[in-house]
Amino acid sequence: MYTLPLSVALLAIALPALGGRSPSLVARASSCTLAAAGSGKDDAPAFLAAVKSCDTTIVPKGVTLNISSPLDMTGINNKHINIQGKISFNPDLGYWTGHAFYVPFQAQLAFWLLGGNHILLDGGGTLDGQGQAWYDAFASNSSLGRPIILTVSNASDVTVQNIAMVNAPEWFNLVNEAKGVVFDNVTLSAVSTSKNAAKNTDGWDIYRSDNVTIKNSNINNGDDCVSFKPNTTNVLVSNLQCNGSHGISVGSLGQYAGVYDIVENVLATDIKMSNAQNGARIKAWAGKGVGSGIVKNVTFTNFIESNVDNPIVIDQCYETSASDCSEYPSNTYIQDVWFDSISGTSSGKEKSVVGSLSCSPDGRCSDINANNLTLSPPSKYGAATYTCQNVNITGTSAGLFPACSTT
Ligand SMILES: *[C@@H]1O[C@H](CO)[C@@H](O)[C@H](O)[C@H]1NC(C)=O
Ligand SMILES: *[C@@H]1O[C@H](CO)[C@@H](O)[C@H](O)[C@H]1NC(C)=O
Ligand SMILES: *[C@@H]1O[C@H](CO)[C@@H](O)[C@H](O)[C@H]1NC(C)=O
Ligand SMILES: *[C@@H]1O[C@H](CO)[C@@H](O)[C@H](O)[C@H]1NC(C)=O
Ligand SMILES: *[C@@H]1O[C@H](CO)[C@@H](O)[C@H](O)[C@H]1NC(C)=O
Ligand SMILES: *[C@@H]1O[C@H](CO)[C@@H](O)[C@H](O)[C@H]1NC(C)=O
Ligand SMILES: *[C@@H]1O[C@H](CO)[C@@H](O)[C@H](O)[C@H]1NC(C)=O
Ligand SMILES: *[C@@H]1O[C@H](CO)[C@@H](O)[C@H](O)[C@H]1NC(C)=O
Ligand SMILES: *[C@@H]1O[C@H](CO)[C@@H](O)[C@H](O)[C@H]1NC(C)=O
Repeated sequence: MYTLPLSVALLAIALPALGGRSPSLVARASSCTLAAAGSGKDDAPAFLAAVKSCDTTIVPKGVTLNISSPLDMTGINNKHINIQGKISFNPDLGYWTGHAFYVPFQAQLAFWLLGGNHILLDGGGTLDGQGQAWYDAFASNSSLGRPIILTVSNASDVTVQNIAMVNAPEWFNLVNEAKGVVFDNVTLSAVSTSKNAAKNTDGWDIYRSDNVTIKNSNINNGDDCVSFKPNTTNVLVSNLQCNGSHGISVGSLGQYAGVYDIVENVLATDIKMSNAQNGARIKAWAGKGVGSGIVKNVTFTNFIESNVDNPIVIDQCYETSASDCSEYPSNTYIQDVWFDSISGTSSGKEKSVVGSLSCSPDGRCSDINANNLTLSPPSKYGAATYTCQNVNITGTSAGLFPACSTT
């Protein structure tokens, strides 16, 4: 359907994608509407063909596409994928463990690679990972590879908005080697209906990517709400409600010998964090033979926490014994960090402790700030206590921390 001159086609797709207010131009871009092939059939080939050849691909309300082979949507440009219905990933575990895309980062598998330039994924519909069969199988096979629902990879200028994702087998979203990626009004929910938990269902992992925004979204899951992995820069995370998660988490960084990890310029603001293992967290490896890196300019602000085990955390001796950490301090330096206006309650798992900022010896943390912290533990544990190690804390809440112990 590429009968229009290129410049007109680009204009036609660019305006509705960015503004959505230009119906006369929408009509001039090619648009394809999909129907399901029918019971027992794989809809992936038709979905792929439509996205490759049409400017706009619509999955109408009431239509469920049965995806039973991988979706390679890399290298696509100026595309609008409008999902009003459902994309359902057929839970044939044996098939996917052999055929899902392999993602080198942490040896992950992926159902769907989305890459290229200027892509909009929206429509009010649902991406269904059909996780239950995966949660049950993983409970008896912890080496089972489980695919990520959406992997935005080798991409620029991608917007994912007004979409729900349910029951990811493992992570919901990976942003991998991408820049200019926005997630807005995305609802994530992983709930197991059996005794086997929906494990490792991270909301977002960001890796080797720059300029990523995640905002106005609701997450109910069983692992990190948002996690900043190596080489994540210029990220805004704003107005999220995270429930049941492991928090907004930098790292873990500096794990692999010879590899340098960077996380820089991160702002996480207006976060409601409930029933979680962590609130705002930074973790970096120490010990013999680990890697190195830098965490610089990270702000966690306006968090309201409820029933959180560890509301604020720096752990720069991650997975390392105290003696190893003093002999081999972390080579991942942590600088210019703000924990500002963090309120609410801990779970009491750490008794009265509501904040723990623990650095390696030898000044590996610097310019660590705490302002306006008003956290409290459950009343039976009395007044809140804060702990710290090997770090000078500045800011209006610095006095909450005792003179930090040194090792
Ligand atoms: C989805 O497609 C696969 C492979 O063609 C098939 O085995 C399965 O029954 C289909 N599922 C549905 C719900 O149609
Ligand atoms: C990344 O995408 C660009 C264009 O979209 C392509 O030219 C390049 O080969 C891709 N790189 C990788 C590593 O896939
Ligand atoms: C567990 O999963 C792995 C990876 O998918 C697979 O190779 C292995 O055969 C499975 N083990 C069992 C006991 O099913
Ligand atoms: C958010 O997305 C949902 C669909 O997932 C939609 O119903 C709702 O209207 C959207 N909200 C806004 C503010 O756009
Ligand atoms: C960041 O990404 C957004 C969305 O693609 C884009 O509008 C903006 O210009 C980018 N900012 C920079 C500094 O590249
Ligand atoms: C929030 O998470 C808790 C703990 O995982 C869970 O029991 C509860 O059902 C979740 N709430 C909602 C609204 O999903
Ligand atoms: C991160 O970026 C730095 C600087 O470009 C590079 O040296 C390093 O190898 C990258 N690390 C990873 C994990 O990609
Ligand atoms: C720190 O990060 C924030 C948020 O990404 C950014 O706006 C600000 O410019 C950064 N500051 C410096 C000095 O780079
Ligand atoms: C301190 O935090 C509370 C929320 O806990 C907020 O309402 C208030 O505006 C903050 N004050 C300052 C000075 O930032």
